[in-house]
Amino acid sequence: MDLILSKIGELALPQNKIWEIKRTKNASLFVKNGKVIALGTNEQALEQVKNALPNSWENFLTNTKKIDCSGKTVTPGLVDPHTHSVFGATRQHEFKMRCEGKTYTEIAQNGGGIRYSVRKLRSLSEEELVNFTLPFLDKFFELGTTTVEVKSGYGLTLNDEIKMLKTIQTLQKLHKLTLIPTFLGAHEIPDEFRENREGYVDLLTKEMIPKVADEKLAEFCDIFTETGVYTVEESEKILTVAKNYGLKIKMHVEELSHVGGAELAGKLGAVSADHLEFVSQSGIEAMKKSGTVPVLLPGTALFLGIKHLPPARKMIDEGLPVALGTDFNPGSSMTQSLPLMMTLACTQMKMLPEESFYATTVNASKSLAREKPGILEIGSDADFVVWDSPDLDFIVYYFGGNLVNKTFKNGELVYEK
Ligand code: NIG
Ligand code: FE
Repeated sequence: MDLILSKIGELALPQNKIWEIKRTKNASLFVKNGKVIALGTNEQALEQVKNALPNSWENFLTNTKKIDCSGKTVTPGLVDPHTHSVFGATRQHEFKMRCEGKTYTEIAQNGGGIRYSVRKLRSLSEEELVNFTLPFLDKFFELGTTTVEVKSGYGLTLNDEIKMLKTIQTLQKLHKLTLIPTFLGAHEIPDEFRENREGYVDLLTKEMIPKVADEKLAEFCDIFTETGVYTVEESEKILTVAKNYGLKIKMHVEELSHVGGAELAGKLGAVSADHLEFVSQSGIEAMKKSGTVPVLLPGTALFLGIKHLPPARKMIDEGLPVALGTDFNPGSSMTQSLPLMMTLACTQMKMLPEESFYATTVNASKSLAREKPGILEIGSDADFVVWDSPDLDFIVYYFGGNLVNKTFKNGELVYEK
């Protein structure tokens, strides 16, 4: 796909150097065969096109489709590094119970929550799951997201977890959104193992993890380390096996209480430690030492009405490359909007607008063990968003509506307002 974006009101480009964003007014961006070949001021872009296409640049300029982006902002496509996008059933009945005063934990302890989703998911075929999930993937494009991590974790049997991961594979064949699969077999203790936790840990370590790794069904292994779910000791045992099988590590830690999950993430060299509402200083130190990326999910606190927020400002000031995600799931964060997460990060966690944008692009990529997506430069995949916004700050400042005007994936228009 070839394309010229001209008269861009503001081109906002996160740089490799942490927290740096280059903002250019009245800019251009040129795409050839789905890749960026030039970007920057009009003069710079013209020079770059001449370099890239020494014999055909005039032809390219005359014959390529042009999009006038005056008054609009162009950014890289956003990266959502933490979602539970395959779930098979929504849970608005639990939302209502929470509005009436029940807590998320109470609902979970009475067999609802994740265990409700597990019962539903087990009853669906892969085909039904694929059909249920596809419209949600379109919604990511609508909200400016072009790459998404997706976890299993609502199956909790060997076959149902495999079914979830195969669903993600099938979705990837059917949809242009980039999906990065994570195995989360340790999301809960399934109903049939409530009296035999070790039995499930055995199943995870002796059958599920080996099968997932051998069949290359996931890149990461995740766990919910939390009071009443997996202990730190169980987590260490499970994740050590996952590491030995070549899976990279992610963890849900310190979400509802402090149990030392961040310390374990550091000890195991996890790629990311996610949530962190109740992280302690020693957890922060452990993540710094191991280069673990903190992924903060402000949608969860908003949706569960939790006042306790992760110390984002402190983590940034201490040098951690904080990333942001939606945690999109039917229980604790029913949103797919990264722009909303940016607004919340600023209003609730004292991040700055540019930081919140860097956290949903470059740092989100880093939390997925990647350098790209999230950076647009010559040679990158042309994944970008055109926003109805005069500049980057306005995208973060405005909330509750959608400013995305167009989303492109590999140079192809995948959403238009
Ligand atoms: O990230 N913490 C555990 N998992 C999800 C919730 C999943 C659910 O309620 O279905 C989370 O908050
Ligand atoms: Fe989660």
